[in-house]
Amino acid sequence: MPDDTTRSAVRPLLSERPPAPLAGRIAVPGDKSISHRALMFGALAVGRTVITGLLEGEDVLATAAALRALGAAVERAADGRWIVDGVGIGGLGEPEDVLDLGNSGTSARLLLGILATHPFTAIVTGDASLRRRPMRRVTEPLSRFGAQFLAREGGRLPLAVSGAPAPVPIEYRLPVPSAQVKSAVLLAGLNAPGRTTVIEPQPSRDHTERMLGHFGAEIIIEPAPTGGRRVTVVGRPELSAAPIIVPGDPSSAAFPLVAALIVPGSDVTIANVGLNPSRTGLLQCLAEMGAEIALENRREAGGEPVADLKVRGTALRGADIPPERAPSMIDEYPVLAAAAACAKGRTTMRGLAELRVKESDRLSSIAEGLAACGVAVTVAGDDLIIDGAGGSPPGGALIETRLDHRIAMAFLVFGLATKEPVRIDDSRPIATSFPDFVPLMARLGAHFRVPD
Ligand code: S3P
Repeated sequence: MPDDTTRSAVRPLLSERPPAPLAGRIAVPGDKSISHRALMFGALAVGRTVITGLLEGEDVLATAAALRALGAAVERAADGRWIVDGVGIGGLGEPEDVLDLGNSGTSARLLLGILATHPFTAIVTGDASLRRRPMRRVTEPLSRFGAQFLAREGGRLPLAVSGAPAPVPIEYRLPVPSAQVKSAVLLAGLNAPGRTTVIEPQPSRDHTERMLGHFGAEIIIEPAPTGGRRVTVVGRPELSAAPIIVPGDPSSAAFPLVAALIVPGSDVTIANVGLNPSRTGLLQCLAEMGAEIALENRREAGGEPVADLKVRGTALRGADIPPERAPSMIDEYPVLAAAAACAKGRTTMRGLAELRVKESDRLSSIAEGLAACGVAVTVAGDDLIIDGAGGSPPGGALIETRLDHRIAMAFLVFGLATKEPVRIDDSRPIATSFPDFVPLMARLGAHFRVPD
């Protein structure tokens, strides 16, 4: 895991216009959100869960290691499937050492939910990026179950959690639209007697709810009288081990997808992409910008809708992206910004406050990186405004990745369309979510190389 303690040297990378359009067919790795949850639910179930297509990125491997440290058996079989022998709800035990979750906010927040209703003490930390990210958004509701937290100033990691010995279920209205906070509360509710309810003002990704149902928990989803949704889990169910097939990650597919759109003449198919409606905001934006993306071979895999995406290079136009779309594309703004910089006209992306608390402050990372590449970009409050000239932006800058995999990949994609190459200072963070990004993009004809 890349860290400020620099366990391996930084790896700069340069991206330049390929001599020919991008072409070919690839499959992206498994969905990161679903992979974390498959391991966690498997660990809390009774019996053996077999997972096919698990993302083997550093973030998910951090979850696997933490679950092992808590007493679940989590192994990779020789055929690439992952086998989890669960301990049952409430059955995890005190870890011997600090749980280091690397760069992964999802691992940290969801595990804190689980730990909040297990009666022992654990210490959780992460890399320099994760140690900067807000944890109060989970420790505040989890304290209401009776858990105790001792954290650094601002509620940051490292923190110690002592789980509630006699948890009480809660009803909680999310102050921020966050699937991680929703999931942390629902996971804590699994080991509390009675009903735990989360009210979300705007629907966020629902993989936790789907998987709870898949493992046999009682989960009730209703419209909230005040708008949004009420999600209730009935505590202390017996979770039964269930096979999981992880679809390809739409947030990873976003990178080759935008690359194909902005390199003229490209013709690319991305196979087996998860199309859960709570994750498809980017496709809607790109369609509004003039992209024609064909969804072929639509089917269901592991309870999630899936399709192959076929896309060609397209002259894009600017669009107005409304704030209520943010939860369905929260991880896609860096690469959408790259597309907007190549489009003709103004793209306004509204309501991006949550981007400030991702792996980096993505609002600044995007705006500073694009400005350095000669793009007209403005941050106005929580909105990002990009004035694209159409065609090839100047490029030619060195981008700081700031321990942020999606900033690294978005700017490498951007460099495929710019007049001058784009360099990133460190490509190591890419391994957190998309370890094969560079070779897969090379198969399509992208040129990424180590700068001289
Ligand atoms: C995730 C939810 C999102 C997203 C993250 C994964 C999840 O975070 O940015 O990459 O798996 O629940 P928030 O829910 O905090 O927005």
